[in-house]
Amino acid sequence: MAKKLYIKTYGCQMNVYDSERMADILSPLGYELTSSPEEADLAILNTCHIREKAEQKMYSDLGRLKDHRKNQDGKKEPMIIAVGGCVAQAEGAEIMRQAPFVDMVFGPQTYHRLPEMIARATRAADKKTGKGRGVVETDFPMESKFDALPQTEISRAAAFLTVQEGCDKFCSYCVVPYTRGAEFSRPVREILEEARHLVQLGTKEITLLGQNVNAYHGEALNGSGEWGLGRLARELGEIQGLERIRYITSHPSDMTEELIEAHRDVPQLMPYLHLPIQAGSNRVLEAMNRKHTRESYLAIMERLREARPDIALASDFIVGFPGETDAEFRETLDIVEKVRYAQAYSFKYSIRPGTPAGVMENQVPEAVKAERLQELQALLNQHQHEFNTQTINKTVRVLLERKGRLEGQLMGRSPYMQSVAVFAPERLLGQIVDVEIKEAHPNSIAGTILTTEIASAA
Ligand code: 5AD
Ligand code: SF4
Repeated sequence: MAKKLYIKTYGCQMNVYDSERMADILSPLGYELTSSPEEADLAILNTCHIREKAEQKMYSDLGRLKDHRKNQDGKKEPMIIAVGGCVAQAEGAEIMRQAPFVDMVFGPQTYHRLPEMIARATRAADKKTGKGRGVVETDFPMESKFDALPQTEISRAAAFLTVQEGCDKFCSYCVVPYTRGAEFSRPVREILEEARHLVQLGTKEITLLGQNVNAYHGEALNGSGEWGLGRLARELGEIQGLERIRYITSHPSDMTEELIEAHRDVPQLMPYLHLPIQAGSNRVLEAMNRKHTRESYLAIMERLREARPDIALASDFIVGFPGETDAEFRETLDIVEKVRYAQAYSFKYSIRPGTPAGVMENQVPEAVKAERLQELQALLNQHQHEFNTQTINKTVRVLLERKGRLEGQLMGRSPYMQSVAVFAPERLLGQIVDVEIKEAHPNSIAGTILTTEIASAA
């Protein structure tokens, strides 16, 4: 049976949109939407600060979810209870103090990291402490309170825009082609209109979303033929005031020359690419029905680095796919050594009912998967830390998106998707500033804002 996802959405249209995106992002993990909280494996309250008594309402809804979880004794894994949205951002860890059974708290700009957060929550659940699993998205203002409306708008300095849905790839482990259906691309005209509208509202960065985003093939602007993602990125690059363009998630076989050239020619297209390889062995890749090999993947990486030498690379990995031998797993480690990723998400293979891999024989024992995951993540974390360390003493452009955990601290993203902490006046929220990096941590970097920026933004 597929896992059930219950999302309760409070408040504005933006939250409705965000809830839909959460469902999109979670569908590859096997979650299907349900309207019945009592059967949920994952329940998310997508909160809004604008409504009166938002917090009280949230706590009483949380109480009900806790009761539902109690009544689910028959389930293998207890329901994950999560709070997202603006109340989560404002209250942060306070929610876990008041409702200790809550497993995850995450802000509005972090939901693309939900798969990783859920993986963390599930790992914590393995330890069976009985308490909430304590996942709070880290680059997130745990202590701060703010007026909901202006902050909500400011947080849209970085916005998401769906350009494509569905998938025709049928990777053998994945439910998306069954649950989300065939690929569909929105017409270019609609996307440009939405992008212009967002920019008018103050958006500086747009992330184009799609399950298979680089398979995008939308109706061309003049109505004849279709445009790919590279052509779309070029056109978006013409919008005055749109300073950053990103896209997630891509498939290696759709990494066209046109898109690679866009990375060379469109300065707004950020030097960061999340291109999942999943595994390093050609035999495993074939069993996964990935339609690319380790060699073809590495060749794409090389072409990308020629087009945009500073590009930061990210990937997803699955360890313990049915039949994966230790030697095959070592090939995954070898790919990681070759590419040296700036960021990565890694998962233990888990059966999605109805998928070809789910009925494959020679499933890998749980303990072996856990061991491989640990080894892979240690290497990935080391590389991510090294990547962050390379930015020390460099100046990076940072879009300041939200308040940080400490008084006077703001958080933003570098062009390379690194989380950046800086002490800066609050009026700079929503602005892009130069930051000289002084510290590198495994998951973030920190620095000082260059004084000219403060002067010119005054
Ligand atoms: N088991 C483990 N990980 C999976 N993913 C998708 N399906 C599975 C599965 N059955 C991972 C892939 C994908 C990411 C969104 O989720 O790495 O890129
Ligand atoms: Fe799933 Fe593969 Fe499609 Fe990605 S490309 S959504 S992993 S079937």
